[in-house]
Amino acid sequence: MILSDPRPQPLALPPVPETSPQKERDAMTETAQPQGEQTVLVEDLGQVKVASRNLDVYYGDKQALFDVNLDIRPNEVTSLIGPSGCGKSTYLRCLNRMNDVVESCRIEGTVTLDGADIYADDLDVVKLRARVGMVFQKPNPFPKSIYDNVAYGPRIHGLAESKADLDEIVMTSLERAGLLGEVKDRLGDPGTSLSGGQQQRLCIARAIAVSPEVILMDEPCSALDPIATAKIEELMDELRQNYTIAIVTHSMQQAARVSQRTAFFHLGNLVEVGDTEQVFTNPRETRTQDYITGRFG
Ligand SMILES: Nc1ncnc2c1ncn2[C@@H]1O[C@H](COP(=O)(O)OP(=O)(O)O)[C@@H](O)[C@H]1O
Ligand SMILES: [Mg+2]
Repeated sequence: MILSDPRPQPLALPPVPETSPQKERDAMTETAQPQGEQTVLVEDLGQVKVASRNLDVYYGDKQALFDVNLDIRPNEVTSLIGPSGCGKSTYLRCLNRMNDVVESCRIEGTVTLDGADIYADDLDVVKLRARVGMVFQKPNPFPKSIYDNVAYGPRIHGLAESKADLDEIVMTSLERAGLLGEVKDRLGDPGTSLSGGQQQRLCIARAIAVSPEVILMDEPCSALDPIATAKIEELMDELRQNYTIAIVTHSMQQAARVSQRTAFFHLGNLVEVGDTEQVFTNPRETRTQDYITGRFG
């Protein structure tokens, strides 16, 4: 039996253009270092989960992002770092169209998920947000029970055929979020009765429950204590086996701990992206170097 794929078909995706003369120079000399970061322009869609091309974002007259070209790879954690106000949250919100709800916000350029344009006219935004889930800075459980918080998405998306199905989804999601052991005897208690770190894991369970492909996290640990933070960081490493993760963090230590790739933003520009270790130990751009050594930020 052949099932037609209801999703939009992939666009031909151009490689990330080189943006600076320095990068052009590096690109010309890169044959000497075949394993080098810049030699691998990801053209195989299998290597790219989410991509932006020439992405400009405006709030009214004010431009918040300038020509951002970034590939986010599957089953990796990509960190977005940079000083406050540089556009990290704006960028993250473009990836599941959360900026649609900001009246003054206007977007130019392309964002693709599996090669298909997520800003296409016929795209179902609700389905998109199930495929690209989001976890916010401040844990925001619904005023419902722990169970109902996690069951909410599967219910509205009709993902469970029976109560047993729904139970299974809720349990699996709590388990994957590393929370089941702590809550299995109190699933009827309000989500808000949990500690901050537990609430954030509940929000992660809620995001996972609709089987997303990508999870966006905007400073998910900034309201948490170090122990709760460590738990979430540990969790991210497990989650990436099944999901693609993009995380905004103001902590360079956290970016170094949790991510395979790091993208550094400054004043609305993507200055540099590369393997996390390279970005932190051997940045290509002076602005990255200045930021990671604490010269501004
Ligand atoms: N809803 C909004 N309305 C107007 N300007 C905004 C809005 N959200 C963000 N901005 C502006 O866009 C720029 C980038 O902000 P943001 O993406 O929140 O940065 P970051 O997450 O890196 O701190 C800032 O100048 C900020 O003031
Ligand atoms: Mg932010």
